[in-house]
Amino acid sequence: MKLTWTRLMSVGNESIDSEHKTLLKMVNDIERPIRAKDAAALLQAFKLFEDAFHIHSRNEARIARAINYPFEEHKLEHLYFLNELQSIRDELVSNEGRWSESAVEHYYCFLSEWTATHIGEDDMRMKEILETLPYDFKPPDAPQ
Ligand SMILES: [Fe+2]
Repeated sequence: MKLTWTRLMSVGNESIDSEHKTLLKMVNDIERPIRAKDAAALLQAFKLFEDAFHIHSRNEARIARAINYPFEEHKLEHLYFLNELQSIRDELVSNEGRWSESAVEHYYCFLSEWTATHIGEDDMRMKEILETLPYDFKPPDAPQ
């Protein structure tokens, strides 16, 4: 199932929304090498997603700090997800791409479900505050 960003997923901030669109596209891009059993492409797509999620996590933490949104629990969830991503990737690497169909389906479901929940539920809690600010709000310590 393809994940598509819709207006209903907007959390009221341009940079977060834009990163969410990219993350969803990357999750979709992971599906292709899974179906094609292309281990090298799968690992590369995984790495890209991990890196993008790292950057996204830091951006959200900066925005949360700037709007005084309590982010501790959210941050722990990000760390948990990043750890899971790393162990999934390590497992794929150690199996040299000889993964079982069910294992990869399981990883893919975990990835897509977690990402969808992250956007639709976890980040949505910031919307009420973010909507009181301009859509293009950037925290003062945002990288240029
Ligand atoms: Fe997010």
